[in-house]
Amino acid sequence: MLVSAKEMLDKAKAGHYAVGQFNINNLEWTKAILQTAQELNSPVILGVSEGAGKYMAGYKTVVGMVNGMLEELNITVPVALHLDHGGYDACYKCIEAGFSSIMFDGSHYPIEENVAKTKELVAAAHAKGLSIEAEVGAIGGEEDGVIGMGECADPKECKMVADLGVDFLAAGIGNIHGKYPANWKGLSFETLDAIQQLTGDLPLVLHGGTGIPADMIKKAISLGVSKINVNTECQLAFAAATRKYIEEGKDQEGKGYDPRKLLAPGTQAIKDTVKEKMEMFGSVGKA
Ligand code: 13P
Repeated sequence: MLVSAKEMLDKAKAGHYAVGQFNINNLEWTKAILQTAQELNSPVILGVSEGAGKYMAGYKTVVGMVNGMLEELNITVPVALHLDHGGYDACYKCIEAGFSSIMFDGSHYPIEENVAKTKELVAAAHAKGLSIEAEVGAIGGEEDGVIGMGECADPKECKMVADLGVDFLAAGIGNIHGKYPANWKGLSFETLDAIQQLTGDLPLVLHGGTGIPADMIKKAISLGVSKINVNTECQLAFAAATRKYIEEGKDQEGKGYDPRKLLAPGTQAIKDTVKEKMEMFGSVGKA
């Protein structure tokens, strides 16, 4: 059964480790992540962006697929199904569809509007037992076709949004989605520290987990990060393994064109990536 992400993240914050949010794109992705979490006895959060939800034929399809897998694959570790960077309407749709957690990303609104909408959605999510993440300070990178360098959130605005009763908070600390450019200045630990001092026990979320070096990940966890989002890195691993299979001509040997064979190396590459991240984040054995 799907669970809200609150308890697993409160435990992670108290235990000084982080739970990975891995974004899903299809059945192979979902199965690879769930099986790895079960093998490693780790809690896990499946992230679904609005675009991925649409791609997978709607939020209800996603809920049906994930619930089916939890049962058929005997997944017993805590699993949350979480809307990633949801708009206002998408949040309501996911609450109705059976998600167990949502993120409302109001970071592009003026702070007053972000506060008002977040407050309303906190009540709506909690009324149905879902956890909710909010965002302050836009996280850069290539999102919606716009490439930004990664803002640093204002700690006072973080405190305002934290006080609305959100279960965990994403704050920009110079992190960006996608690959980091060669001239990236790294995470702003000064900002993270200032945010944690004002928000206390609230689990903080680090977006753009792809390509952040292990030492920065560890330092971020020590300063209150309890959830780390990874998407692009699984996509890169999947694409590289699939490319290799085809370039080696394996799709033309026997029944190598069978999607169950064609997609197997990519699926294994996702598993390997998820394992590496879970070990780095410290969530192995914490289910
Ligand atoms: P990456 O694609 O950079 O790993 O970021 C994932 C993310 O933050 C999803 O919200």
